[in-house]
Amino acid sequence: MSSPLAIHGGAPVRTKLFPAHNFIGEEEKEAAHRALNSGNLSQFIGGWHDDFFGGPEIKRFEKAWCDYTGAKHAVSVNSNTSGLCAAVGAADVGPGDEVLVVPYTMVATATAIVTYNAVPVFVDIDPETFCMDTEDMKRKITPRTKAIMVVDLFGHPADMDTIMEVAKQHDLIVIEDSAQSPGGTYKGRKVGTLAHMTIFSLNYHKHIHCGEGGVVMTDDDELCTRLQLIRNHGEAVVPDIKVKNLSNTFGWNLRLTEISAAIGTAQLAKLDGLLDHRIENANFLNEELGKIPGITPPVVKYDSKHSYYVQSFMYDAELVGVPRDTFVEAVSAEIPLPEDREFPLISPGYVTPIYLLPMYQQKIAYGKNHYPFEGDHYEGEANYAPGCCPVTEKVNAQIITTEFMRPPCTLEDMKDVVDAFNKVYTHRDTLR
Ligand SMILES: Cc1ncc(COP(=O)(O)O)c(C=O)c1O
Repeated sequence: MSSPLAIHGGAPVRTKLFPAHNFIGEEEKEAAHRALNSGNLSQFIGGWHDDFFGGPEIKRFEKAWCDYTGAKHAVSVNSNTSGLCAAVGAADVGPGDEVLVVPYTMVATATAIVTYNAVPVFVDIDPETFCMDTEDMKRKITPRTKAIMVVDLFGHPADMDTIMEVAKQHDLIVIEDSAQSPGGTYKGRKVGTLAHMTIFSLNYHKHIHCGEGGVVMTDDDELCTRLQLIRNHGEAVVPDIKVKNLSNTFGWNLRLTEISAAIGTAQLAKLDGLLDHRIENANFLNEELGKIPGITPPVVKYDSKHSYYVQSFMYDAELVGVPRDTFVEAVSAEIPLPEDREFPLISPGYVTPIYLLPMYQQKIAYGKNHYPFEGDHYEGEANYAPGCCPVTEKVNAQIITTEFMRPPCTLEDMKDVVDAFNKVYTHRDTLR
């Protein structure tokens, strides 16, 4: 029998730190210098002018995303959150409307709906892909439903054909939050071309980044114009653009800078290579950790390319005989922290289902009178009761989320992860 578990004072499987997730190289430095040397760190003007659409780096960045995904338009923004808000606004969502959304995601997905004074209606997740359950989605459509906000959770695309078909029948706009799935495919088609609007994130934690940034993809000319208006003080230019529908065309400042755009373009050129690297590591872990009874690797459906922002494993505490959190704590002790972070690459669960957060439990967003969740403007009844999305709650209680597969980690690093899991499993009796 190998040494006792590290959590019990034994020698850990590994002491060498995992490498930092840093893939900023000469290309990004050159790109940033190009922008700096131009002297124009942002060329946007919030009035009617060519520069209403941004400067040369913004245009280069947007073209690169169109070329990469095959979508007709790209509208750069300063974060995925900004992109989600702009997309909800462009979809003409407003007070009294409902938007279907999953509760198992980063909070911004649902907050974007509240930003436009509409009510998020939470739809449960599919127990295999952790994306929107399309049967529950159909059940939750009402005459007030205006849009559907889906998330490609952990990098697995949602079931977009079904979602788009149902949306067509009910005349709904579909927004795909693809913060976690750049480079992914669904039935051979690129994420970015599947929904009416798709949003990618370029924050530092993502597959590729430019510090903070985002981009909204769409094939629809009118949605593109509405997004551009919302990004950049649209109310000032609606007379020049001769908009047909004034609603929600007032804007914010959601503009990306020239330096960020230049870095983002250089990063996009690296996306496929970084993704292949992640997938190779993830496949190895799926194969090896999947041999442990009680640990089930993620399912990849719809002939998709999973982008593995997060690699999740379902954990059967009964079969292993150890509570999940104890198991995860023991694995963490066998493996050191990564160089660039103070929190581990493995966690029990993902996020609290969004409807359980105080904003929804107390229905307090704007002011103190429960707006927009209650009031004369809204004819529905927002249900955020614990248990309203039972699959989400069950999954969060059973899932283990990991990020070991991040480049530049290698298959050698993955072997240490497998050894750590196997060691804890072998010694599981000592954890009871
Ligand atoms: C699913 C999802 N949506 C939205 C966001 C917000 O992205 P950003 O930080 O670029 O605003 C994230 C970031 O983690 C995310 O994972």
